[in-house]
Amino acid sequence: MTKTSALKGFYKLSPKERLKIIADFSDLTNEEVSLLQNTGSLPEAVANNMIENVFSVMPLPMGVAVNFTINDKDYLIPMAVEEASVVAAASNAAKMARIKGGFFSSNTGPMMRAQIQLVDIDDPHSARLKLFEARDQIIKMANEKDPVLVSLGGGMIDLEVHLIPSPAGTMVVAHLIVDTRDAMGANAVNTMAEAIAPYMEKLTGGKVYLRILSNLADKRLARVRTEIDKEALGGEKIVDGIVWAYTFAEADPYRAATHNKGIMNGIIPVVIATGNDSRAIESGAHAYAARKGHYGSLTQWGKNKVGNLVGSIEVPMAVGLVGGATKVHPIAKIAVKILGVKSAVELGEVIAAVGLAQNLTALKALATEGIQRGHMSLHARNIALTAGATPQILEQVVDEMILTKKIRQDFAEELVKKLLK
Ligand code: MEV
Repeated sequence: MTKTSALKGFYKLSPKERLKIIADFSDLTNEEVSLLQNTGSLPEAVANNMIENVFSVMPLPMGVAVNFTINDKDYLIPMAVEEASVVAAASNAAKMARIKGGFFSSNTGPMMRAQIQLVDIDDPHSARLKLFEARDQIIKMANEKDPVLVSLGGGMIDLEVHLIPSPAGTMVVAHLIVDTRDAMGANAVNTMAEAIAPYMEKLTGGKVYLRILSNLADKRLARVRTEIDKEALGGEKIVDGIVWAYTFAEADPYRAATHNKGIMNGIIPVVIATGNDSRAIESGAHAYAARKGHYGSLTQWGKNKVGNLVGSIEVPMAVGLVGGATKVHPIAKIAVKILGVKSAVELGEVIAAVGLAQNLTALKALATEGIQRGHMSLHARNIALTAGATPQILEQVVDEMILTKKIRQDFAEELVKKLLK
């Protein structure tokens, strides 16, 4: 019988029943099945309630970035990521930053936007003003949808109306600006937008289509700055190299994409460790990087009067501490406890600091020896482990491979055999 992926009622099965079907479909061995059945610290029942068609979990290593001090408070920062050298790079940068007091941060407050798209409007300018005339009523109606948020000091605080030209006529797009406090806020703002939409149709005579948050969370920014002692970097030439690396990213989108990827190397692992939505953070960051009409750097680097490096980052940071995976994933809850953050905006600032730190180490390596040497030693480690190096001989095997520039499997095996004799 040909295999089919059209599995009727699959969603109603238990994870074990689903796994059995998958194992038959893909000829999984008993060993593979039992690996998949081990969900570790994310109980199967919890995972099964988080998404659909659950059959297993995907564990990632979680490392901790050390040396971070932000606004005179020290943090240990959990990072869940598959890429080697990310955690070490963040820790190294934070160590250099510590000399001049570490990182200093601020934020705009946790303001999210929801958009309501109105079309088929004859007189968009009058429609815009009619919406503004009803601003207080709109805010009142939106806030009635979330009394809990309001009781915590949040809720809808402002209305914006944008006129967006299109080939099919000008669209009137209302933005609800909502203070979501410690929630990421997607549910809160989407519920408000859906509730307000019919009233906006009545006010404007238009037709509403989309009612959804914007991930370009430009009223929910985390800002972080730092100063790096030039001697800690290895001298003023390196400061200049880093500034040139930044200049390149700011001017050229091909470079900016990679530069910002390096920043996300720091940001996303903390977002994942704390159970937040990494896709929201990615899209917000890249859209913000293009806000000037061309895609540029999320960070800025320069040299101050005494020749030290000064850096800053400003990035949308729609993360929460209540609701979603942050509250149900047992490891995410512990990661938040390790961080010791008291609010979503504090978490956002910590995450932005890691992004800035990550960027610093990448630019320092790129502007000097390149990144391959560091990468190759990690690569050597992996090869040594695959070749059967025990913890007792691991360092020796790695050192020998690097020294002789023979980072190869056959050479690693030869060394392991010799040293284990
Ligand atoms: C690799 O994951 C990240 C870098 O490419 C970032 C950069 O180029 O700035 C090293």
